Amino acid sequence: MIDQCDILAALRWHVDIGCDEAIGDEPMDWASFTARPVVARAPAPAPGGPMPGGGMRDDAAPGLARPATAARPSYAATPVSTQPLGASEAGASARARAKDARTLAELEAALRDFDGCPLKATAMNTVFADGNPQASIMLIGEAPGEDEDRQGKPFVGVSGKLLDRMLAQVGLDRSKVYISNILPWRPPGNRSPTQAEIAACLPFLERHVELIGPKVLVPLGGTSAKTLLNRAEGITRLRGQWFDYASPGLLGPVPVIPMLHPAYLLRNPIAKREAWRDLLTLAQRFGV
Ligand code: URA
Repeated sequence: MIDQCDILAALRWHVDIGCDEAIGDEPMDWASFTARPVVARAPAPAPGGPMPGGGMRDDAAPGLARPATAARPSYAATPVSTQPLGASEAGASARARAKDARTLAELEAALRDFDGCPLKATAMNTVFADGNPQASIMLIGEAPGEDEDRQGKPFVGVSGKLLDRMLAQVGLDRSKVYISNILPWRPPGNRSPTQAEIAACLPFLERHVELIGPKVLVPLGGTSAKTLLNRAEGITRLRGQWFDYASPGLLGPVPVIPMLHPAYLLRNPIAKREAWRDLLTLAQRFGV
């Protein structure tokens, strides 16, 4: 019989190894599942996506992608037929759905209906966008955090509050900008998104940018900058410089100025001076 001390010790152990939240409504008794090999799928690059599939494994939670390798099969508690799509299938499915969307409402509906990214299974909400779709400035963050996941809106937590204060410094607010993220679903525990997750969702973001048709794109943080620009350099190299973003559905190349992520600025307040410089550069060029 399990006594309360055992349960408390197990809970403490989970906290000690960094588990800080439950991602399912019901606890799972993993010991009751019979391990079953996942059909090995050769890792394939995401067609058309700027980054190949693959990335961090996340074997601990139900419904998460488990990239299998031939050499060492992994095991899953869910039937093989319900395994998430591989990155290439997911990317192809996302592209097909996204390209058919002719309005933001259609795109959001297509995204909500898309099952090719396993993060959807663990997120509470699909976080599509906030702000003014007519705005000429489109900000793109990384992925929803806990507050965004709960409220279904991007940048509503502490880093969002800082972002609002930063925008206010140059006379901007959410009625004058449009905000979305690379990923519409929160990675559990706020871990970094994997390349496979990014590749699966990117076609929706690309179509999102086409439908908004912004005059300037502002990636916030390294994940966003590297993904949109298809560059390998980190954000400290990319920030504050002008690049071009092109997409077939846009009238022409859109200027891009990557900036530091507000969450980074909260951890490194000294870097706010760079963020301020970049905001002024943006404001000067676009007369805000
Ligand atoms: N960080 C992001 O990158 N996006 C959000 O929406 C919130 C926090």
